[in-house]
Amino acid sequence: MRTTPPQLKVDVWRGNDEGSFQRFDVPRMESQTVLDVVIHIQRHLDATLSYRFACRVGMCGSCAMTVNGRARWTCRTHVTKVMKHAGDVLEIAPLNHLPVIKDLATDMTAFFDKWRDAKGYFKGEHTRNEPAACVDPASAERKAADAGIECIGCGVCYASCDVVAWNPDYLGPAALNRAWTLVNDVRDIQQQTRVAAVSNDAGCHSCHTLGSCTERCPKSLQPTASIAGLKRLRGHAPKGEPR
Ligand code: SF4
Ligand code: SF4
Ligand code: FES
Repeated sequence: MRTTPPQLKVDVWRGNDEGSFQRFDVPRMESQTVLDVVIHIQRHLDATLSYRFACRVGMCGSCAMTVNGRARWTCRTHVTKVMKHAGDVLEIAPLNHLPVIKDLATDMTAFFDKWRDAKGYFKGEHTRNEPAACVDPASAERKAADAGIECIGCGVCYASCDVVAWNPDYLGPAALNRAWTLVNDVRDIQQQTRVAAVSNDAGCHSCHTLGSCTERCPKSLQPTASIAGLKRLRGHAPKGEPR
């Protein structure tokens, strides 16, 4: 006789900025991730559920959601990690501090616009016709640039930052971490512009060093330390005039 697998009670946000939670019962599986649960609902229970993912292996940064009240990458978060007791309800909602397009999909435009505003993109002086500029992998400069380079742009830190909630203009931990990574890139030539961009009212000095970004970053990066580095730059902008 076939036995019915245990069921998870799952509350999923439906709607946009206005909406409500909808309850689903999902079969419990071994090694099940929160993203597995969302995919099961969309494929077997309600095809209209909207959400975002791509790689399923913690590389693309697109699957972050609020799980039982806390921002997480859902493809690498096992259900056992967030549900301690049988009978607990799994609650899945969109990321905080971003407009909701529909259900679990947020509009990331403001998040990535802030990377641009923080000059979070590389600008070198070599053209494509010159040899690639290299930094010795063993050098102190390269190690400094490496500290925050593995950011996957998931938005977990941004959704966890209270200052973003208080001041929607605040550039936020991911954009500032990216700016600090480029401050440490000795090939980049827009350093003074970048330091000016991250030193205004919306920049690094608004960080209250509460540390939620560092505590929750799934890649174990330390945006708080990057922001502290930017704060120390006041009046000590690295070389490299804009062109
Ligand atoms: S340390 Fe700064 S950037 Fe990080 S969560 Fe706290 S206030 Fe936001
Ligand atoms: S710093 Fe960490 S939490 Fe923030 S976007 Fe990058 S990987 Fe995600
Ligand atoms: S689906 Fe790519 S990081 Fe989760």
